[in-house]
Amino acid sequence: MDVTLKTARLTLRQPVMSDAARLARFLDNFAVSGNLSRVPYPYRLADAKAWLRTWSPGFPAGETGFTIDLDGEGLIGHVGFHDDAQGTVIGYWLAQPFWNRGLMSEAVRSALDWYFETTGAARLDSGVFHFNKASLAIQKKLGFIEIGSSYRLCLARGEEVRHIDTQLSRAAWAEHR
Ligand SMILES: CC(C)(COP(=O)(O)OP(=O)(O)OC[C@H]1O[C@@H](n2cnc3c(N)ncnc32)[C@H](O)[C@@H]1OP(=O)(O)O)[C@@H](O)C(=O)NCCC(=O)NCCS
Repeated sequence: MDVTLKTARLTLRQPVMSDAARLARFLDNFAVSGNLSRVPYPYRLADAKAWLRTWSPGFPAGETGFTIDLDGEGLIGHVGFHDDAQGTVIGYWLAQPFWNRGLMSEAVRSALDWYFETTGAARLDSGVFHFNKASLAIQKKLGFIEIGSSYRLCLARGEEVRHIDTQLSRAAWAEHR
């Protein structure tokens, strides 16, 4: 897929190799990676380039994602889908200078609309480490409910962390649009 999504303030597009410098700048921040499962800390330019080399615009919907560009600024984050033991999962991060402006709510809403409109999926899974109140607030606002808890490896912390598992049904997505 090579899809671009537009929201009021954001463009969601496919990652490109020239994103590496901004990815490394914003992900080399424990306040970001310490809330994510799969991002190491420290995070170097080589990590960003290696990740970008694995990217293909041909990925199916459940394994793809979007770089988030803020109008007038450029890359500020990412929202993506992948398969894990829980099912197809949505994950996301935003560069710290841009927190608390409603930007990730805007990006996740757009990605969810694309996912449910594009696939026949009955549900989408997600979750947060137990201390991540801002991310849980986003998910609840968009219709996710808590379905349990588990332990997930956090690469940046180098340990398993309690994770609140969440799920969004197609019906709840439609209701919260
Ligand atoms: C979590 C993250 C995505 C939030 O992005 P953001 O653009 O600041 O989020 P938004 O402004 O769209 O929404 C944040 C919501 O959390 C709420 N919130 C923020 N801090 C909170 C707190 N300490 N307790 C409860 N709610 C909180 C805000 O009020 C807002 O809810 P509202 O829109 O109902 O008022 C961003 O901080 C981030 O990328 N963090 C690091 C990586 C990460 O945690 N990724 C998600 C992993 S599950």
